[in-house]
Parts: sequence; structure tokens; C-alpha cells
Amino acid sequence: MTSVSREQGLARLAAAGQTSSRPALQARGLVKRYGALLATDNVSLDVAQGEIHALIGPNGAGKSTLIQLLSGGLAPDAGSLHLHGEDVTTWPMHRRVKAGLARSFQITSIFPRLSVEENLLLAIQANATERFGMWRPRSRNLELLGQAHQLADGCQLPRSQWGVAAGTLPHAQQRKLEFALAIASRPRVLLLDEPMAGMGPEDTVALADLIESLKGQLAILLVEHDMDTVFRLADRVSVLVYGRCIATGTPEQIRADESVQKAYLGTGHDPVSGASPKADARGQGAAA
Ligand SMILES: Nc1ncnc2c1ncn2[C@@H]1O[C@H](COP(=O)(O)OP(=O)(O)OP(=O)(O)O)[C@@H](O)[C@H]1O
Ligand SMILES: [Mg+2]
Repeated sequence: MTSVSREQGLARLAAAGQTSSRPALQARGLVKRYGALLATDNVSLDVAQGEIHALIGPNGAGKSTLIQLLSGGLAPDAGSLHLHGEDVTTWPMHRRVKAGLARSFQITSIFPRLSVEENLLLAIQANATERFGMWRPRSRNLELLGQAHQLADGCQLPRSQWGVAAGTLPHAQQRKLEFALAIASRPRVLLLDEPMAGMGPEDTVALADLIESLKGQLAILLVEHDMDTVFRLADRVSVLVYGRCIATGTPEQIRADESVQKAYLGTGHDPVSGASPKADARGQGAAA
């Protein structure tokens, strides 16, 4: 897996769009309350096949809550969710994962004492149609190993780390491994909630390259605070403020959108410059 140009990615997006115009993921009127707090306020959102759709908004806007509603980690109080046209609103998380809806950095947890290679092999085997068994021919084992190595290569995990216990890897490498594990399940829709959190600038760019390399191949909903990354990767952007989706559009449309500018005013979080937020959008300080 190598990084592709934006043009190549968009070409793939167009190709993916030709197979079906139906959105990969379609949320309608989602509502989630935490007691008196309306964390998700009637949110409708489409993620098209093959697109990278960024979800932005100030701290506490409800981005993670929405991701949880989509992944099945939380049940909505109202609204519906369709995955490739199928109503999955009441499906538990594991059933959604099986149908190709994966949330990285949650479903795929690393086994810290196993090596990078073993973690990848387990993830690939878990997804294989045939079951793991001692009687499997050696050639099949080699094939799985080849897949694991390809995935490790593609996710920038160097050969020198393949035999290392995953729990001893530096933070950024563990995140790349988590990403590789998510890809191993061959999702059709991937939900990423701040995958670059805690990474330095170099690793952020490397992970953005990885995400970009998947453009057109699957639908990705990406929650990200770093606006450089958002505007580099996203085909479309949706903006959440106080639990409401106030705008969806191309990065250019979102930059120019007055309601977006207004909504961010006073939050200290500028969607154009990418300045860091200073306070929760609800005025509650750091959010959960
Ligand atoms: N389990 C919970 N119980 C009660 N309130 C919650 C819970 N989880 C989140 N909240 C509140 O719901 C609102 C939305 O939180 P959420 O974590 O979804 O925001 P976010 O956009 O992901 O924020 P951040 O950018 O800081 O990650 C916030 O006001 C938060 O304090
Ligand atoms: Mg969050």
C-alpha cells in the first residue's frame, strides 16, 4: 500500500461511485441525550462510498458521541442508521462490525504481549472465511503470513519491529498497528475518532498518508481537530456544534461558510486556521 495522489484517489472515488449511488452510511435524525444534555441533536449525515468525510467541531460538540451512535457503542434515543441501504439501527456493535462497519481504536485492540506479526495474523485469521486450524496446509500459512507482512509494510511498520511485543512499541507505532488491525477486518466503512491524537507532526503526516492511500477504497468518517489534515484528506466535511450538524460541504465550501465561522466564534477554535480550542463549546471546560 503506498500513498496515492489526490487525483488518483478522486478517480477511485468516481469509480466507486459508479457501482452504486447509495451512501455507504446514512444517518437520519439521530438523537442522544445524557440526562438533560442533548449531545446529538437530530443529526442526519451521509458518508458516500469511497469518500473521506471529516467530522469537525469544537470540544464537546458531540463528535465522539455521534461516532459511538454509528458504531453501535451507544443506542440512539431517536433516529435511524442505514449501512449500504440496510437498516442497522438496532444492531449491536459486533453485528455492525461483521457487516463491514469498523471503528478503529476501539474494536481492534492490540494484544500487548504478542508480536506485531502475531497481532496481524490473528486479525487476518479472524476475518478469514475458513477457520484457523492445525491441518491447514503450510502454503496457506505462508499466504496469511504474506498478507500480514504486506499489511505491516503498507502501514509503515518496519521489518525490524515485526517480532517485537506490540506493547513495547512507541505510541505512534502502536497507533499504526491499530490502524493495520482495523484494515485487516476489511471494513467497508471505517470510523476514525482522532487517530492522530498524541502524535508528533511527522507521525501525523505519516498516518495521514496512510489514510489517504485508502481513499476511494472504502468510506471513512474521520474526526480530526487538525485542520491541515482535515483539508488535506477530506472530500467533504460536516460541522457539529452543540450536537447539531450545521453544515456539510467540500472543504472549500466549509471554509467559506459564514454559519461555520460564526459557530466557531468565541470557542477559540478556528476552522480555517486550525487554532486549538480553548474551551468546550458548551462552556464546560475540557470535554469527556
Ligand atoms: N457519558 C457521558 N455522560 C454525560 N455526558 C457526556 C458523556 N459523554 C459525553 N458527554 C457530554 O456530551 C457532550 C458531547 O461530548 P463528546 O465527547 O461527544 O464531544 P466531542 O465533540 O467528541 O468533544 P472532543 O472534541 O473534546 O472530543 C459534552 O458536553 C460532554 O461533556
Ligand atoms: Mg471526542
